[in-house]
Amino acid sequence: MAIIPPTERAEDCVLVIFGASGDLTRRKLIPALYDLDRLGRLPEKLVVLGVSRTELGDDGFRETLAEGVRKHATRFEEDAWAAFAKRLHYHAADASQQGAFNGLRDRIRKVGKEAGIDRGEGGPNVLFYLSVAPNLYEPIVDRIGDSAMVTEGKRWCSLDPRGSAWQRIIVEKPFGTDLASAETLNRTLGRVFEEDAIYRIDHYLGKELVQNILVLRCVNSIFEPLWSREHISHVQVTAAEDIGVGKRAGGFYDGAGALRDMIQSHLLQVLALVAMEPPTAFDAESIMREKIELFRAFREPTPKLVAPNAAFGRYGAGVGADGSDEPAYADLEGVDPDQRTETFAATRLEFDTWRWAGVPFFVRSGKRMAQKLTEVVVEFKRPPIDVFRRAMQKASDRVEAFNPNRLIIRIAPSEGVTFEVLGKVPGSGLQIATAGLDLDYQKQFGGEPIEAYAPLLLDAMRGDRTLYKHRDEVEGMWRVVEGYLKSDEVRQGIQTYAPGSWGPDKADEVIKRAGFRWRNPEGKGSA
Ligand code: BG6
Repeated sequence: MAIIPPTERAEDCVLVIFGASGDLTRRKLIPALYDLDRLGRLPEKLVVLGVSRTELGDDGFRETLAEGVRKHATRFEEDAWAAFAKRLHYHAADASQQGAFNGLRDRIRKVGKEAGIDRGEGGPNVLFYLSVAPNLYEPIVDRIGDSAMVTEGKRWCSLDPRGSAWQRIIVEKPFGTDLASAETLNRTLGRVFEEDAIYRIDHYLGKELVQNILVLRCVNSIFEPLWSREHISHVQVTAAEDIGVGKRAGGFYDGAGALRDMIQSHLLQVLALVAMEPPTAFDAESIMREKIELFRAFREPTPKLVAPNAAFGRYGAGVGADGSDEPAYADLEGVDPDQRTETFAATRLEFDTWRWAGVPFFVRSGKRMAQKLTEVVVEFKRPPIDVFRRAMQKASDRVEAFNPNRLIIRIAPSEGVTFEVLGKVPGSGLQIATAGLDLDYQKQFGGEPIEAYAPLLLDAMRGDRTLYKHRDEVEGMWRVVEGYLKSDEVRQGIQTYAPGSWGPDKADEVIKRAGFRWRNPEGKGSA
């Protein structure tokens, strides 16, 4: 189906947030919207309507959000908050009850009318946001459909000349718990909304350095010719966090684990931007198509290779890198230790494309690790011969002993790109050392950092899905992890790792089998 080019501006709408009293709304969504408003980026008449079960009035809702904005917005300004708070409204409703949706529909119309953005028969434009427990996604979507709230769902993408209202929906992760449940959720969404009106969000795609991956590849002519099995030995994608699971353990985390929570979603998206074919244009259709193709090319490991290619770990008790003392994951309240939920996962992935045949991609993510670090490491092959071998007698001075060239894309905490090259150490005699050509984003471009959700929310209001996921992409991503997720052998082999470390030993073995090692900036296994 043709994808409609994005409208220039974010359009006025009612943003209906299901799960308004939740953590995500308080810590991420509202602070991001507030910052956008402060910077003059929100559509003039945008209204936010929070929906949850708690009985709260508009004023009560605003009060509950003020603290989150103070704490999590880029900059808090009293006047800017006062102006922004006027946009916030609240509707108490039990989203699991069909009866609640007629009241909600009327309220959406009412706030739309009051804001002056009613568009006649269809009411105002509506952007739904599902930020609730995943078991409520399908009931809510069904009820949105049953209460006829999607009047133009199938029509908005034909650019109705009468300009009637549109309805779109943003769906948070987790998007299903496996391939089958993701397919079911996609079908439910598809019964009510056109694919072009469905925005499957991944906040990693809103991060500057993630967006920069394609820019780096496709506008710097030196990289793309090198971007293949000819020159690249392997790729590593790491998302390490120093904090533990804490209170979330009793919620969705236990039973979900790192492979679902981080790898299936965020890290595979990052990997896709590294490994996909360059799109023919920077638009949703071209980018989604190439990502889908990449996931289709995933080489499923043979049954014998599943266990050697994956490592699961859970952190033990102790003081973590952030200095805090936390019990072992298995002892946290709400955790069933027998489920063997992993707080760390590492896998080796391969893609049967012309470009990448034989090149392994290593992906890892864990909680309570040595430091907060999100990065991509693209490692290049070594030179075909060592012309310095006679000049450098000591084995430790030999070129083979050095790291090969690496391109390091630093997504967090310090945003930037480092290209590691080897150079002669000044002085008499021949000594060679690794040095970094460094692009520090903050130093180079300055600007105010903004929450990753901000550009994504704005895109949804503009009708631009470039940084969102297509249904086939999500299903493809589940296919990539499913073999590891459902392997008893991998789960039974789960190891305990020390807080503040780089994860279980098995993770080192997974990469070592291919002749490489993780780039661990400090601590165990440092490269
Ligand atoms: C969320 C995961 O999607 O991403 C969390 O559910 C994780 O477990 C978080 O902590 C990490 O996000 P970021 O932006 O801090 O890397």
